Amino acid sequence: TALWFSLFPSELFSLTFSTEDSSVPPVFVQKGKDVLLDVDNVTEGFNLFVWRLEKESLSLVAFGRDGTSQISPAYTGRIDIPDNKKYSVILKNLQETDSRVYSARETTDDGDSTLVQHNIIVQDVVSPVQLELNSVSSSSHSCNVTLTCSTADSHISSTFRCIDQKCDQDGGNQSEITNSSSTLQVYLSNVTVICKHRNQVSSTEDRTDIQHVCSQLTGRSERDSTKCEHTGWIL
Ligand SMILES: *[C@@H]1O[C@H](CO)[C@@H](O)[C@H](O)[C@H]1NC(C)=O
Ligand SMILES: *[C@@H]1O[C@H](CO)[C@@H](O)[C@H](O)[C@H]1NC(C)=O
Ligand SMILES: *[C@@H]1O[C@H](CO)[C@@H](O)[C@H](O)[C@H]1NC(C)=O
Ligand SMILES: *[C@@H]1O[C@H](CO)[C@@H](O)[C@H](O)[C@H]1NC(C)=O
Ligand SMILES: *[C@@H]1O[C@H](CO)[C@@H](O)[C@H](O)[C@H]1NC(C)=O
Repeated sequence: TALWFSLFPSELFSLTFSTEDSSVPPVFVQKGKDVLLDVDNVTEGFNLFVWRLEKESLSLVAFGRDGTSQISPAYTGRIDIPDNKKYSVILKNLQETDSRVYSARETTDDGDSTLVQHNIIVQDVVSPVQLELNSVSSSSHSCNVTLTCSTADSHISSTFRCIDQKCDQDGGNQSEITNSSSTLQVYLSNVTVICKHRNQVSSTEDRTDIQHVCSQLTGRSERDSTKCEHTGWIL
């Protein structure tokens, strides 16, 4: 147990969430999913091999030379060791606080070395979006429409001006980064306004045809009610 006192000091239980910047390219994982921490060049006859959090120097799991492994109390139930991949481990049910750099460290008679690092970034799926009509002003051949693209904690208003069948967006594509690092964007594709919310693991969108709002653009005498399609998917 002396080994475990040195591998798992008490700071382990007072971890605070921090976003790490790192030169290691990030791997984005959806919250609740699992990730494989892969290593394939562990030296034969090592003395100790551990997976640890890079910044905190704290271990998740340690392997001895005889192939035995011990999982840190803080990660009990959260780590699987696949039978077919020696020394690679699966970290399960990822939460935002698991967004960290994980290092594979081995100790041999020649000293310590890092074999591989995984920069894991956990993201929740993005919230749904909704396009809402703020105002419409139309004449026989032109129509100006202002719509708001909104999601839980963010929104963008944008104006579209149409002359006959040709529409333009004031200021072009508009987008913003939300507080949860997702992108909210509203843009025009032909005569369809698309409101899109996305991050690296998911995307939701809502769209409206301007023709539904500006009835004269299609020569209809009566205006259709704005028709919105709500879709969401996970990449
Ligand atoms: C181990 O393999 C990784 C790639 O998987 C490589 O970047 C690293 O340099 C290797 N380390 C050693 C000590 O061989
Ligand atoms: C739409 O906006 C343009 C530019 O501001 C304006 O010239 C035009 O009169 C507007 N059209 C309507 C129907 O309100
Ligand atoms: C985004 O975060 C900032 C700083 O934490 C806060 O002041 C602001 O109200 C937040 N914006 C939204 C839309 O939640
Ligand atoms: C606006 O953004 C969309 C989606 O990223 C893209 O397909 C489209 O080409 C962009 N349009 C312009 C004018 O930049
Ligand atoms: C744009 O919409 C018009 C009217 O619906 C259609 O005739 C035309 O083919 C569309 N153009 C493109 C590039 O989708």
